[in-house]
Amino acid sequence: MSELAHGTLAGLAEIDDTGRDARRGGYSRHLWQNADLELRAWFAERAGRLGLGVETDRNGNLWAWWGEPGPDAVVTGSHLDSVPGGGAYDGPLGVVSALEAVARLQASGFTPSRPCAVLVFAEEEGSRFGIACLGSRLLTGGIDADRARALVDADGITLADSARRAGLEPAHLGADPNALARIGLFIELHVEQGRGLVDLGRPVAVASSILAHGRWRLTVTGQGNHAGATPMPGRRDPLVAAARAIVAVQDAALNHPGSRATVGRLEVVPGGTNVIASSVHAWLDARAPSDSETRALVAGIEEAAIAAVAVNGCSVAVTEESWTGTVTFDPDLVGRFRAVLGGSRVPALPTGAGHDAGVLAASVPSAMLFVRNPTGVSHSPEEFAEVADCVAGIDALETLLRSLL
Ligand code: GLV
Ligand code: MN
Ligand code: MN
Ligand code: MN
Repeated sequence: MSELAHGTLAGLAEIDDTGRDARRGGYSRHLWQNADLELRAWFAERAGRLGLGVETDRNGNLWAWWGEPGPDAVVTGSHLDSVPGGGAYDGPLGVVSALEAVARLQASGFTPSRPCAVLVFAEEEGSRFGIACLGSRLLTGGIDADRARALVDADGITLADSARRAGLEPAHLGADPNALARIGLFIELHVEQGRGLVDLGRPVAVASSILAHGRWRLTVTGQGNHAGATPMPGRRDPLVAAARAIVAVQDAALNHPGSRATVGRLEVVPGGTNVIASSVHAWLDARAPSDSETRALVAGIEEAAIAAVAVNGCSVAVTEESWTGTVTFDPDLVGRFRAVLGGSRVPALPTGAGHDAGVLAASVPSAMLFVRNPTGVSHSPEEFAEVADCVAGIDALETLLRSLL
């Protein structure tokens, strides 16, 4: 890998907020908190060094323009935020590779014949405000602006307030057709979050599709009470009920081949060792190959959860927090990109992971490149990519940009 890309990923390794909770390991980089602000400053500095014009749009997405902004620009990038305890590559690899590809084109004396930008989306993981791909949803009008402004983080701070503190005007959050209209084509390079490329023995793929997916909140309500003074029979303990519901979630997904359902986050209210909880919030992430299968999976989960929590005298309410239908990347574009990159040596692979490119695909031509991840693990510190494969990814991105610009 070149000095720029290698030094860049290594330099980024220092930037995270895990000091706030070292038990998690990995990286915790959440929208407009310290690590995210540091990464944004890093991006502006690096892009500035390449002579790119950096701007923040009204939703907090960062753009770095090579030449004049749009229209019909070729835009490439990804995100810099992470899940709690995430890996080093999910997001930053796409941003670093985009800067590197532009740097290489510049160094070779290449002159683009259409506008080009590197784009960093805000809050792709939804780790602070709960909605994944928040920056791309806001940009495309995929989330209602009033609803977005009212989203709260774990400390009860609204998106509107935190946007204001970050220097944005909360009233201007939301669909940004002028910014969107500048994009002629979007390409996101990303570490693969599974074993597709490992199994095929190839370093780079083009993405073919993304599973339909969404997030739901299960609120289980019981009777808060004293841990010592309340006899076991007759308790209405919502945490025990939630445990039953989570097993039902797993069983429902096992019974729907090709689907995935996960509860990875719980909030126990009020959360005391000697307190039987009064309620529990459990966040469900559910995904399946088609919209209807995902809807059927979640309907089945709701029914099973109602029955499961009733065993403990509790009730459950299910609310939808976000939804993304199945994304099929434009087969013509996928075919053209594979042809430019070497045909059958570059497979087309589906993924179960969500991406800003998937959100954007509903509005503008979009495509993705995947880089092999030998562990097959992601959203974990074990996520990995060999330097040689990162170089292959940058080579592919540079080749595509050269053919498009
Ligand atoms: C984001 O990485 C997601 O797929 O949840
Ligand atoms: Mn991710
Ligand atoms: Mn990602
Ligand atoms: Mn993602």
